[in-house]
Amino acid sequence: MLKCIHKIAICNSNKITYTSSRYYSTQSSSLRMTIIGAPGSGKGTQSTKLKRDYGVVPISTGQILREAAEEDTPFGKEIAKKLKTGDLISNDIMAEIIQKVLNNQNNWLLDGYPRNPEQAEHLDKVLKEKDIPLTVALYLDVPENILQERIQDRWVHPKSGRVYNSVFSPPKVKGIDDVTGEPLVKRSDDNDEKVFQNRIKTFKESTLPLLKYYEKQGILYTISSPTSDEGYIKIKKVLDQVVHKE
Ligand code: AP5
Ligand code: MG
Repeated sequence: MLKCIHKIAICNSNKITYTSSRYYSTQSSSLRMTIIGAPGSGKGTQSTKLKRDYGVVPISTGQILREAAEEDTPFGKEIAKKLKTGDLISNDIMAEIIQKVLNNQNNWLLDGYPRNPEQAEHLDKVLKEKDIPLTVALYLDVPENILQERIQDRWVHPKSGRVYNSVFSPPKVKGIDDVTGEPLVKRSDDNDEKVFQNRIKTFKESTLPLLKYYEKQGILYTISSPTSDEGYIKIKKVLDQVVHKE
């Protein structure tokens, strides 16, 4: 049922990575993170930078599901249908996926998981069994009007999940992926205003309660910033402190 999952970017890099403050081995550090944010808040965008600078392996549950939705099977069709509406996939399916992708990973960054308190409890249970608790929960706090603009201007390369924005980070050639030369597309859940509103509503109702959950654990860091560069500088400050504490 979940065979698409091995295709996901499990390209562990144990190289020495330079950050503004020092060199450190990403193998010995233990960044296990989740990144929480509304649709269009920049989870995927920031994940790419964090992979580059901290060697964390981004695991995007949205991208995993979009790949699963491409499969010509009843499961693939069921996922595709859900994605088009902006509703969440069931906790049971997500639990199976997450257990599989976390196997044998050290430094990872979950983009889009957990998405509700039940998923957070499940994640904690899985990590407790492995004795590797979550170290950071980052919340990207972006005003709602900005989210909608970003989604309208977003273009993606479906196979890799690479994200562009026609205003903020355009591809070198309009409509074409910089790396493969393949065409860029709109995501099926980005085109419809009603679906976007449903994703925002789902985020508020199901995902926002996670902020309290992680605040209680003392690992929540809120990044309030509408612009990427400023936001990323704040994220780096937080992570550099966390790595120093280890
Ligand atoms: P998912 O793929 O996670 O979608 P999402 O949460 O709606 O978030 P997006 O990917 O739309 O936005 P993003 O925050 O990654 O922003 P991005 O970096 O692209 O999930 C899709 C669906 O899968 C869900 O609706 C649900 O159905 C299902 N699902 C996933 N996980 C699930 C789970 N755990 N349980 C159940 N169901 C699940 O940036 C957006 C745009 O803005 C881009 O164009 C980018 O270039 C631009 N941009 C980014 N930062 C900036 C900036 N600072 N300034 C200007 N532009 C910027
Ligand atoms: Mg994303």
